Amino acid sequence: MNTDAKKTALRMIPYGLYILTADDGKGNVSAATVNWVTQTAFAPPLVAVAVKTDAHGYGIIKSSGHFALNMLGKDHKGLAFTFFKPTEVKDGKLSGSPYHKGTTGAPLLDDAPAAVECRVTKIVEEGDHHVIVGEVVEAHLNKPPTGRPDTAILELKDLGDNVFYGG
Ligand SMILES: Cc1cc2nc3c(=O)[nH]c(=O)nc-3n(C[C@H](O)[C@H](O)[C@H](O)COP(=O)(O)O)c2cc1C
Repeated sequence: MNTDAKKTALRMIPYGLYILTADDGKGNVSAATVNWVTQTAFAPPLVAVAVKTDAHGYGIIKSSGHFALNMLGKDHKGLAFTFFKPTEVKDGKLSGSPYHKGTTGAPLLDDAPAAVECRVTKIVEEGDHHVIVGEVVEAHLNKPPTGRPDTAILELKDLGDNVFYGG
């Protein structure tokens, strides 16, 4: 295989940016910016997220059986960069961002325009990221978008010419 072609072809896939959060109820809370996310079914509403197996949040999602996807708005570049780094839980905030618990226990960032809470239904254990399939069991709209909802999301390409995850 031509590895340069593989890298460039895979980097042609467009991505939105989300903060993936989880809380195991035993004091372990995680939040990470992710882009490998998609909806995979209408009924039930399913999403799939690829999660790094050595990420802090991977075990927390697995043991709690729940996670939240906090959608990032166009003005949330700072949040995206904050959660590329390990999360600090201090003063009831996640790396300085206020949050509250959703009905599943998963953390919901107060600043996110929208979020979905999911129950883990399957984990596909292949490669260095495992595909976590979740059923959307709660949805929150803090700031309803005025136009097409997918124009409101912060996209990977909004972070400049040098930020990629894929290839
Ligand atoms: C542009 C970008 C996209 C990312 N997308 C994902 C992703 O889809 N899945 C994932 O597990 N990690 C992804 N990460 C890595 C996480 O943001 C990072 O591992 C995490 O926030 C750091 O915390 P950790 O201590 O859990 O590793 C991405 C990183 C970058 C820079």
